[in-house]
Amino acid sequence: MSTSYGLLGIGSIARAIVTGLCEGVAAPPRAILSPRGAATSAELAERYDAVSVAPDNQAVLDASQVVVVCLPVAAADQLGALSWRPDHVVVSATAALGMPRLLELVAPATRACRSVPMPPVADRAGLTAVHPPLAEARALFDRLGGTLEVEDVTAYEALSATSATLAGFFAYLDTQAAWLRTQGISAADGSRYVAATYAGALGSLRSADPPDFAELAGEYATPGGVNEQVARELREAGAFDALTTALDGALLRLAT
Ligand SMILES: NC(=O)c1ccc[n+]([C@@H]2O[C@H](COP(=O)([O-])OP(=O)(O)OC[C@H]3O[C@@H](n4cnc5c(N)ncnc54)[C@H](OP(=O)(O)O)[C@@H]3O)[C@@H](O)[C@H]2O)c1
Repeated sequence: MSTSYGLLGIGSIARAIVTGLCEGVAAPPRAILSPRGAATSAELAERYDAVSVAPDNQAVLDASQVVVVCLPVAAADQLGALSWRPDHVVVSATAALGMPRLLELVAPATRACRSVPMPPVADRAGLTAVHPPLAEARALFDRLGGTLEVEDVTAYEALSATSATLAGFFAYLDTQAAWLRTQGISAADGSRYVAATYAGALGSLRSADPPDFAELAGEYATPGGVNEQVARELREAGAFDALTTALDGALLRLAT
């Protein structure tokens, strides 16, 4: 029998996980969703036969073997109010919820891990970091693009910190689109152009395993050319140092 997944906290990341599990899949696993995030739960249940919405969080646990926790950290204490079985397996996506507290909350379940699924899991294109390694988490995230199992908690939290740079990355693209508007380019053409430039350049990362970012930077930076100039000016203005400092700040928040 295939695993049935219960999901608690049906927002952006749960939607991406359920979409990746079900979209275009001939025999998707059963997914039982908590009712909070009502519009998203209802929409996913409507779209996929394998998905149903439970009346409450306890009913999610009662109907599932592997429980994927996608709650905001502020709601995590509510896990402790639920009746867990010893055979439940818990895969938490809740940032900044450390293993000691997670295990306390889900006792008597003992098989648990943390994970950082990102929105591309919806397209089965994510590489999800998991700590500590857990077979059921690997089975889940291998369906969603791949799993990076991390034994060491500090290494896991550092990986989590880099996943917190995506909003900044899109702001970087938005800055370019906004600048194009000041140059008289229409908003649509500017955004389309920036998106195509990056989609083309980033597409090559899929086949590079592992990619060499310094080498790629070198390939784009023709000596004396404008790519080299922009990279140098950003470096001299402290943009890359600011990113390193921001990563240190993210790690401080994520470390538990
Ligand atoms: N988004 C990402 O890319 C991403 C990536 C990795 C990890 N995470 C982590 O995943 C967690 C969720 O993030 P998100 O972006 O998906 O947040 P989100 O879109 O705000 O969704 C959170 C959901 O949790 C529901 N919820 C709150 N309290 C609940 C409770 N007591 N019982 C059941 N459901 C409850 C909310 O329901 P209502 O709408 O009814 O309040 C909401 O639908 C966070 O801890 C975040 O750090 C997110």
